[in-house]
Amino acid sequence: MTTLRVEPAARVRGRVRVQGDKSISHRAVLLGALAEGETTARGFLHADDTLASVACMRAMGVEITTSDDEVRVAGRGYASLREPAAPLDVGNSGTSMRLLAGVLAGRPFPATLTGDASIRRRPMERVAAPLRAMGATIETATGRRAPLWVRGGDLRPIRYELPVASAQVKSAILLAGLQATGTTTVVEPEPTRDHTERVLHAMGADLTTRDVPSGAREISVRGPARLRGVHLDVPADISSAAFFLVLAATHPDAEITLDAVGINPTRTGILDALGSMGARIDVQDAREEGGEPVATLFVRGGRLHGTEIGGAMIPLLVDEIPILAVAASLAEGETVVRDAAELRAKESDRIAAMSRNLRAVGVDCEERPDGLRIRGGGLRGGVVASDGDHRIAMAFAIAGALSSDGITVEDTACIDTSFPRFETLLRHVTAQ
Ligand code: S3P
Repeated sequence: MTTLRVEPAARVRGRVRVQGDKSISHRAVLLGALAEGETTARGFLHADDTLASVACMRAMGVEITTSDDEVRVAGRGYASLREPAAPLDVGNSGTSMRLLAGVLAGRPFPATLTGDASIRRRPMERVAAPLRAMGATIETATGRRAPLWVRGGDLRPIRYELPVASAQVKSAILLAGLQATGTTTVVEPEPTRDHTERVLHAMGADLTTRDVPSGAREISVRGPARLRGVHLDVPADISSAAFFLVLAATHPDAEITLDAVGINPTRTGILDALGSMGARIDVQDAREEGGEPVATLFVRGGRLHGTEIGGAMIPLLVDEIPILAVAASLAEGETVVRDAAELRAKESDRIAAMSRNLRAVGVDCEERPDGLRIRGGGLRGGVVASDGDHRIAMAFAIAGALSSDGITVEDTACIDTSFPRFETLLRHVTAQ
């Protein structure tokens, strides 16, 4: 088992570009494979999760070449996809599994979607139910989990209200909707990341988005759609940048610059949350690159105070709650996270993992059904287990640099699912 030992950092300095956005990289591959013509994505995240999407599309006959930070997909339209010879293995990647379910729902062949032990514990009925309503045959394993057996075919459009705000489920329905005849509409109770919509729009899909006064958002797509290949510039992943944002914002002697970070408004809840805690983050040189807003983030260290996070803010920072909990541990006063029960259905049960591990390193933390209550007061140190979850592993590596005694994180190979260069960059900004 790989472990990572992180000692307290005396100072934090540097200029880094964290790796490419995971969500956009998946979409470049999965949507590029459905389009006609070449799709290229510069800044592509070369990591286990996104390479799982590449492998699954290759298994259906799509020609894809990858290099360190670029991907080229030779799209020939969704009709060109072939029945895979073996089950499609997504590894740890929930995005691959759920988006591929939407693609397969409209394909006239059977396919199995499987993955690692973590993915086989995660809920899949949320994606199977709407795809069945569109006419696909989908079976799940015991407990409505993966593997999924999908037999696609002629789809009918639906209007579907998502019971939980999920960009993955929304995307699966839109990808199926592209292949149906007529208009498919997804209603999300509150906005979630909109990368699928942006890429589909760039590829020429007939897609509309409407904000409803209640706070909900409706997204409609008209099928059958013909998509054309595009060039995408993938920004640095704000979810990866978040680890360095918190490291710098909470350290007494810190100053770092994060280059080309994606600041899509459906992803910037972390900036608002840290801002409400008193963090000193300057958003500089905001611009648009390849259909996504990007900026340079300049962060200086300081003293944070507690905050409350809940409601419609949760989908805008859903992957950043582990590292926000670390920030809360160093802040003055109490932080409460509520309305975040979804965290129990991520790569691990993140509410349980965070509260157990924070307590193990000396933090006063209460686990709640839908969140956490953390009383700030500093991190001592100790040994924690990642539960095989990349974001838990990275949150506690950062906690180690901010602790008084250092932290050993067990089971850190999972970091490679989203951010293989994490340790190198952490050593770089904390080197004396
Ligand atoms: C993702 C959506 C989110 C997020 C995940 C990536 C995506 O999941 O947690 O890491 O790329 O669409 P949900 O949409 O299920 O909340």
